[in-house]
Amino acid sequence: MARHRTGTKFDLEIDRREVPALKTHKMALGEGGTNLFAAGVADMDFKVADVVLEAMQKRLNHGIFGYEAVPDGLLPALCDWQMRRHNWALDAGDILRAPNVLNILAIAASLFTDAGDGVIVQPPVFFDFYDILQENGRQVVPNPLILKNGHYTIDFNGLEELSANPKNKMLYLCNPHNPVGRVWSATELRKLGDICARHNVLVVSDEIHGDITFEGHPYTPFASLGAAYADNAITALSPAKSFNIAACCSAFTVISNAAKRHAFLVENSRLTVNKNNSFASVAMQAAYAAGDDWLDDVLHYISGNLALLRKRLVAFDTVEMIEPQGTFLVWLDFRKLGLTPDGLTGFLRKQAGWAVTRGQAFGQQGESFARLNIACRRAKLDKALDSLETALRNLKA
Ligand SMILES: Cc1ncc(COP(=O)(O)O)c(C=O)c1O
Repeated sequence: MARHRTGTKFDLEIDRREVPALKTHKMALGEGGTNLFAAGVADMDFKVADVVLEAMQKRLNHGIFGYEAVPDGLLPALCDWQMRRHNWALDAGDILRAPNVLNILAIAASLFTDAGDGVIVQPPVFFDFYDILQENGRQVVPNPLILKNGHYTIDFNGLEELSANPKNKMLYLCNPHNPVGRVWSATELRKLGDICARHNVLVVSDEIHGDITFEGHPYTPFASLGAAYADNAITALSPAKSFNIAACCSAFTVISNAAKRHAFLVENSRLTVNKNNSFASVAMQAAYAAGDDWLDDVLHYISGNLALLRKRLVAFDTVEMIEPQGTFLVWLDFRKLGLTPDGLTGFLRKQAGWAVTRGQAFGQQGESFARLNIACRRAKLDKALDSLETALRNLKA
């Protein structure tokens, strides 16, 4: 039965400056940037699901926040979610708790590769991948995605070649891919997994955007492809993006291989990153147990924003949108403007009033691109597009 969609709840204006939200903070906007269209940091401007708020409120009312174990219902709720939404028979015994997704990526690199080893990434890709690897003394080994006719694909020949080098021991996979919005298909993932397995390259799959996909582009958890794929994978999961709870949330490491899981557990213990936050636990459990309707509604709303963006950009004629299959991040191609990367950043900020993420942050392949976060009120996006339109007109003149 078709459910009534209450899109208007996402049109509610909430001033994020009431709390030190990173998106509207000077850390992200720079000095004097507080009035810019804040569309950089990858979270949503929407109030979270009532089921999540109610669970947190109930926990708050309990009034005691001493040390806690993982609630009995949390991992089953996550496993049920994965089966219900993504047809993945996730085994609760394979799951470890983690503070956040980037922490999982960092531990995986430090545990399963040695200093100086190469870790393959597929730029343009989430900038923190570079920072983590550099800070852990690992070599970033780029295997750039191929961009053809506005569509990104994996360079499998490049991957085969780089994987064959014994110094390259790991691949950071972004599934779905931030910033280009590709939701990798099962066929692509299988091909990638086969190459990596053949060359003993461990796949570390960041699936934080997995729940956020558009119609016709189902997310395939890499480890759901079969036992052989799962055995060569470390998966990072989190409801941070899907339920807009990044600041009161933690993450899950999924490792089927028993020896690797044990090693990870020991490392978690060595680093003492094994405490539980009571609010994170209840928020995540409520989201996974009863957040389907809210997520469906928010995806519907974001699709509407995407339709608006698509329509308006066609009229501008100078900015191309890389059609996203998932994520609430849109990769915009400004190459037709002929500006330098810094020139583009300055134009967007000073002329259009946009604080988006500059493309070069995602690797040199991102130069002359920018990443726009569309998880905001539609009216706000529309107004920001008015400003961009005026700025583009002035630039032409
Ligand atoms: C691909 C990807 N991985 C990880 C993160 C951050 O995850 P966490 O806050 O759980 O470390 C982000 C946030 O933007 C992301 O886009």
